[in-house]
Amino acid sequence: MAILLDGKKTASELNETTRKRILKLKQCGIVPGLAVVIVGEDQASQRYVRNKHKLALKLGMNSVIKEVPASITEAQLLALITELNQDTTIQAILVQDPLPKHINEQRIMQSISSTKDVDGFTAVNVGQLYLNLTGNYPVACTPKGIMTLLEKYDIFLRGKKAVVIGRSAIVGKPMAALLVNAGASVSILHRYTTEIAEYTRDADLIISATGVLRLLGAEAVKPGAVIVDVGQNLDETGHLVGDVDFNAVKDKVAAITPVPGGVGPMTIATLMQQTVDLTEWGLA
Ligand code: GUN
Repeated sequence: MAILLDGKKTASELNETTRKRILKLKQCGIVPGLAVVIVGEDQASQRYVRNKHKLALKLGMNSVIKEVPASITEAQLLALITELNQDTTIQAILVQDPLPKHINEQRIMQSISSTKDVDGFTAVNVGQLYLNLTGNYPVACTPKGIMTLLEKYDIFLRGKKAVVIGRSAIVGKPMAALLVNAGASVSILHRYTTEIAEYTRDADLIISATGVLRLLGAEAVKPGAVIVDVGQNLDETGHLVGDVDFNAVKDKVAAITPVPGGVGPMTIATLMQQTVDLTEWGLA
């Protein structure tokens, strides 16, 4: 059986560090503030936002949820973000994705101040990541959380063949950038890739972020590979599972993230970590 890359445990350790950092800031009269904007009533988004809010409060932050109806105009939403950009009690802003179709998502995300952009979605922060600049800037929480998890388990990346499946701005693209910056050779696969297994069979590390149930089985992975499964799918029995057929590959690969309890908790712990990072960077 492969080593389980335990995101739940690693996230809980990271949260403990974050809690202590917040305590220290509070002793200096500073309370990190996270604002989460949620537009409309998507059930999954509502659940994610509630979980973020609960954890932020538990760690001692100031957590604000701005819940607005799906009928909000783009101009009204831009005005709300401008208000949050100027609010000195808020150090981190997250606009929950997805947004209603009548709103230009890029315009909204790019309106967030790059110094409060806890998701690392703004062009300035994406650019810093791609240039591998040294210095302080936020990076998309899921890929950054995955890097923390890989580091925790001493997964060596330099010179390794990595495959990232999915090319989203939230996961795939920043993940590929982080892996390249760490010295891996990276292929980015996506819906137009004709033969996914041609790449994955050869990979030392596979990061799958597609939302396709059982995208990868035993025949698609190399013995001893490391698998990180970002997928969140419901199987035929209503259970939460990833993109990778866990039971089929678990005795062939060296290490794998479980779903649930792998990447999910790392994303939210990284959100908390970066809210405190932004607060501290703002003081410098
Ligand atoms: N929706 C699902 N995941 C995310 C995320 O990491 N950030 C934002 N803003 N929205 C999301």
